[in-house]
Amino acid sequence: MCKLRKTRVTCAPSLAPYLKQELEALGFECFSMDKTGVEIEATTTDCMMLNLRLRTAFHVLQRFADINCRNADELYSEAKRLPWDRVIDPNGFVSVQSNVRNETITNSMFPNMRLKDAICDKLISASGKRPDSGSSTDGMVVNLHWVDNKARIYLNMTGRKLSDRGYRKMPFMAPMRETIAAAVLMEMRYDGSKPLVVPMCGSGTIAIEAALIAKQRAPGLLRSNYGCNQWLGADKDAWSQQRADAKKLIAKEDPAPIVASDIEPEAIDASKKNAVTAGVDHLIDFHVCDFSETPAHGIGDIVLHGEYGVRLGEDDDLIATYKRIGDFLKTDCAGWDGYVFTSGKPLIAAIRLKVAKRTPFINAEIDCRLLRYELYKGSKDK
Ligand SMILES: C[S@@+](CC[C@H](N)C(=O)[O-])C[C@H]1O[C@@H](n2cnc3c(N)ncnc32)[C@H](O)[C@@H]1O
Repeated sequence: MCKLRKTRVTCAPSLAPYLKQELEALGFECFSMDKTGVEIEATTTDCMMLNLRLRTAFHVLQRFADINCRNADELYSEAKRLPWDRVIDPNGFVSVQSNVRNETITNSMFPNMRLKDAICDKLISASGKRPDSGSSTDGMVVNLHWVDNKARIYLNMTGRKLSDRGYRKMPFMAPMRETIAAAVLMEMRYDGSKPLVVPMCGSGTIAIEAALIAKQRAPGLLRSNYGCNQWLGADKDAWSQQRADAKKLIAKEDPAPIVASDIEPEAIDASKKNAVTAGVDHLIDFHVCDFSETPAHGIGDIVLHGEYGVRLGEDDDLIATYKRIGDFLKTDCAGWDGYVFTSGKPLIAAIRLKVAKRTPFINAEIDCRLLRYELYKGSKDK
């Protein structure tokens, strides 16, 4: 169980540099990074810790086998030779997820079915029993990554995506994914030492992620079902120890004030409920108001995730809102670090402030930018 194994940690497109930063801060050497993940070496106990503590990852995948296969029949026969009886409980539940680029495969569900058949047939010959199977990711999940003739099979140590923290019971409209909110805060170098204001907070994701970061609360503590506890021989004592260690990291002091506001009362209602579920409601001061009326305590960071045309709203109204955002940042936020998360040149141009830094993000498959503004008195128009 304590053997170091090749492990892939996956993430949403555009988050890999933040994931790498997190892994390095936790002491891992990152052997390579691509658009959707980072390769490390980790023990099974490390995987437990990563599930609990990573803020920008989707899944922790432990490499199980590499096989050569030209088509689905070869996938089946090669996969059936693998020692599934050592890792899969025949009384449990298994699901297969795949990512395939092979010219013989036209139905994306077919490789999942053939790999699942190989696993079940192997277990029947070893024990006379086969696990239940289906699409739920709450049991054991096997991941297949197959390109041309090369297939790599992973044991998924996470199960449901880590971005699904479990606190967002009320999404409101166009919410930001939790992992993106965490990466945005990393890009802002947010650590809770300065006040944070989040107008247009929607369901509260940025404010809630900020409170979790500021308290050094491992986001994975918010849920209990992880793939690492589903495999045969899962070490329950190691899991309890990792949870206890993560709890010890929680900061005793409260962070500088976090204020979140939205013009829609239902958004604030959703935010409050989500913050209660996340256990951080006492750290966030919520208000129903226009963004320009949001109260602040001291000077710090302000971040706005407004609506953008592709998903919501009419363009002319949006342009007017972004002009007002620019005026508000310029006249009311001198001395603050200002950030706007948005998409589309017309909206960015409407802000009419000099951008100090543009960081690309992909949110819900839309190309977005986090724009940073240095707001000194008399910030110049472009
Ligand atoms: C894209 S959503 C924010 C999503 C949020 N980051 C989340 O994760 O749920 C934009 C929000 O801006 C709010 N909004 C729009 N116009 C506003 C205004 N003038 N003042 C304050 N909030 C406004 C909307 O009600 C909506 O909740």
